Amino acid sequence: MYFKQFLDERCGCASYLIASRQSREAAVVDAALDTGQYDELLRERGFRLKYVIDTHVHADHVSGARRLAGEHGADLCLHESAAVAYPFRGVRDGEELPLGQLRLRILHTPGHRPELISVLVINPPRSPEPSMVLTGDSLLVGDVGRPDFGGGDAAAQYESVARLLGLPDWVAVFPGHFEGPCGKGMCGRPSTTIGFERLFNPVLRLGRPEFVSTLSGNVPARPLNMVAIEATNRGRADAAWAMLTGLPRVDEAGIDALEALPGDAVLLDVREPEEYAYGHVPRAVNLPQAELATRLGDVPRDRPVYVICESGMRSLRVTQFLHQMGYRRVVNVRGGTAAWRRAGRQVICGDAPGKPRIVESEWTHAGGTSAPAG
Ligand SMILES: [Fe+2]
Repeated sequence: MYFKQFLDERCGCASYLIASRQSREAAVVDAALDTGQYDELLRERGFRLKYVIDTHVHADHVSGARRLAGEHGADLCLHESAAVAYPFRGVRDGEELPLGQLRLRILHTPGHRPELISVLVINPPRSPEPSMVLTGDSLLVGDVGRPDFGGGDAAAQYESVARLLGLPDWVAVFPGHFEGPCGKGMCGRPSTTIGFERLFNPVLRLGRPEFVSTLSGNVPARPLNMVAIEATNRGRADAAWAMLTGLPRVDEAGIDALEALPGDAVLLDVREPEEYAYGHVPRAVNLPQAELATRLGDVPRDRPVYVICESGMRSLRVTQFLHQMGYRRVVNVRGGTAAWRRAGRQVICGDAPGKPRIVESEWTHAGGTSAPAG
């Protein structure tokens, strides 16, 4: 067999190419939007693409699966329950997709999303047992996928992960993410084993009630442009442009700059509404980063735009995205609302029921900053 993992540093996503070196048939799982990397490998190796499998409808990056399957005449496979507006081959639990001498066995492992599947890779000439499992965003390295992207279910995630933990210790685990907003405790390694996770994954050592309350409790903010990206992956929008494709250097300013904002400046708070309601800088207007691409018309191009979040990380990505979209008078506020609060400055509170359950993701991209704006 042939197996290759592709890691996308920009979104923390992993995709995979699996092939039979005997039949030259190949499958790509969780294709990134940049499908050229798979084209090149298929051509170099003389493989013929038979299946393109999306483990689920992604919310944090635009999938390249449809384009790849269309260009290669491959079957586009998703779980039969996937709610998408384009034709696909629906696969179901227990089904096996033959790939030369290999077998790709589908496991329905809902929780992160209702349609999420894992793919067991079996190479019968070597062993009747599976040697690896591609888990999408069910079991991650040191964590499990978050269930709050819409349609997710923490209790279902518990059952799915328990099922995966029933696999033999030696089975190698290859997740859909090695970092990023789909989990909050990923350790950063791109693979693991069932045995290691059973022993050392902190979430998997919880009993069912604790597991469910932990997953339903504090959650990271929804990803940048999630609404547009998910609609695109469902075939209900065409917004591949909503992906942040680079990390341009952008202007930044400290919180002191907010005391003397130009009169026509817009201060854009890109946190979730519950965080905004819990306390925001005066003058800040709320536009959660998840909704940015779908509400881009609300962000004026002819006025200075200052972007703020909790600590300055989300706002940096938003500033970079606005820069990508042609905004030139856009400034990231370093330190964010937390720095404003720490300095003892006044925050405006809305109708907040209590402390927000949104937590800052530990995940950050490298680079992308520049000297402060004047
Ligand atoms: Fe996901």
